[in-house]
Amino acid sequence: MNPRELRAAIGAIPWAHRIDLGNGIVTPGEWDTQEILGRLRIPEDLTGQTLLDVGCWDGFYSFEAERRGAKRVLATDSFVWRSGRKQGFLLAREALNSRVEDAEVDVLELSPERVGTFDLVLFLGVLYHMRHPMLALERVASVTKRLLIVETVIDLLWMPGKALAFYPGSELGKDPTNWFGPTPAAMEAMLRAVGFAGVERVWPSEERLVLWRAMSVFGPKAIKRAVYHAWRE
Ligand SMILES: C[S@@+](CC[C@H](N)C(=O)[O-])C[C@H]1O[C@@H](n2cnc3c(N)ncnc32)[C@H](O)[C@@H]1O
Repeated sequence: MNPRELRAAIGAIPWAHRIDLGNGIVTPGEWDTQEILGRLRIPEDLTGQTLLDVGCWDGFYSFEAERRGAKRVLATDSFVWRSGRKQGFLLAREALNSRVEDAEVDVLELSPERVGTFDLVLFLGVLYHMRHPMLALERVASVTKRLLIVETVIDLLWMPGKALAFYPGSELGKDPTNWFGPTPAAMEAMLRAVGFAGVERVWPSEERLVLWRAMSVFGPKAIKRAVYHAWRE
């Protein structure tokens, strides 16, 4: 595909991710994936490692893992891919001449038998879409050998304890596919409860969280997100 054909193909797709395809061509994604990438603290060097990207959509993080040297990357999704929005992933993979593998797998279908196990698992922007968050975390944990990185919505920041906000309608972001937002303490406890020995919040910083807590009491309510690293040992 020459650059002109590539630009035309990109223009026909509704992108979620901004993916640099080389030659100055970047997909016009809705989300600032580079900024989010910085918050995730994915190891810079993934040489020889295996990585699973759960709910990957256009696959930006999968391609980035491959660029960082991962020897095997499996990109999975179900909801948007099955709704006809897999063209972005397929086009980016072709343009990047990437070896990232793909599988249409629901989170609740993840198991070592179905997909294998992986050194590193990304679970980014998916947990709040789960009607059964603990079950989803159990499935994701079952395929994680070393490190799970979770990026998700946190809520009820004024509350010191472990609790989950429940969004039975479209309360969160006007999106009826969003279900739960845990407090930071609940998120950590949930990851420990599914078997992770070490859990660390890597975004936001403690100082930023204190600020968000104050804002959640006095200021306008805005969606807040956090990133956790959960280690097997
Ligand atoms: C907010 S997007 C996040 C996409 C990407 N991980 C990111 O961080 O940019 C949520 C993704 O989760 C996927 N998803 C939602 N429910 C799912 C399920 N039950 N099984 C697998 N993927 C699911 C959607 O298809 C979508 O790609």
